[in-house]
Amino acid sequence: MIDGRMRMKKSPFIKKTEEFSKTLRIDFVKKLCVFDSLDSTNSTAKELALAGAEEGTIVIAQTQTHGRGRFDRIWQSPEGGVYLSVILRPIVSPERTSLLSFVAALAVTTTLESYGVHVTIKWPNDVRVNGKKIAGILLESEVKGPTVNYVVIGIGINLNVNLIRLSSDLRSRSTSMLSELNHAIDAYEFLTRFFLQFTSFYTHFKEKHYNYIVNQWKIKTDTIGKIIRVQTPFVTLEGTALDIDQSGFLLLKSDTGAIKKIMSGDCLYLDELHHT
Ligand code: BTN
Repeated sequence: MIDGRMRMKKSPFIKKTEEFSKTLRIDFVKKLCVFDSLDSTNSTAKELALAGAEEGTIVIAQTQTHGRGRFDRIWQSPEGGVYLSVILRPIVSPERTSLLSFVAALAVTTTLESYGVHVTIKWPNDVRVNGKKIAGILLESEVKGPTVNYVVIGIGINLNVNLIRLSSDLRSRSTSMLSELNHAIDAYEFLTRFFLQFTSFYTHFKEKHYNYIVNQWKIKTDTIGKIIRVQTPFVTLEGTALDIDQSGFLLLKSDTGAIKKIMSGDCLYLDELHHT
């Protein structure tokens, strides 16, 4: 006992990740908060943001017990994956924050591509390889009137995940870098590349290069031109994905020729329906 407290031995994951963060020289990364297991890195990051954590604080965990996906889905988070949440405090109007999930999707996509895989983005932010999901992004924010207090971008990447660790239902729709490349990737090298990419796209965002971000995103998406079904919290719509506007909204043309602007939703490609 030291000072009345028991000193817990740090796990190899915490030791290695803390060592890594000491050698990381990327200005954007201010603090890496490392955990063996968390409920959800987004929940912890939100608590830290509310307690005043600065922009560039990052929460990372080796596994999550209640990893959250969009629409309250579960994000299965076995060992081998990358689970992290980035705290941002952008000085922008609240409508702009949705573009931050494009920033994250671009950073993830570009990083994965640096390992030689072909990556596409399915609107709004599913990162996929060969039509199978490899990474997901969950953006949560606190807005007070016209002010964005914080944004937490949660990112889950199936890096060295053995697909057998996912439920059979999810396994058929998912892939991992381990499965694509048939070998594991050094997670710290991956994180370094990712933080560099994130810094680069986020700098464009801060400099208000919104068109650049949307245009880069449009190069990576395979949604435009597809016949899709979009489920929003209110309705299900079908039609052709015409375009993405400069705010990241999807323009969907229905059979009647009407064009609808959709802010967010779950998108399904109808030509993939019989495969899923
Ligand atoms: C989705 O595609 O539905 C989004 C998945 C986001 C998962 C990540 S894992 C790290 C962070 N913490 C969470 O609880 N969720 C996000």
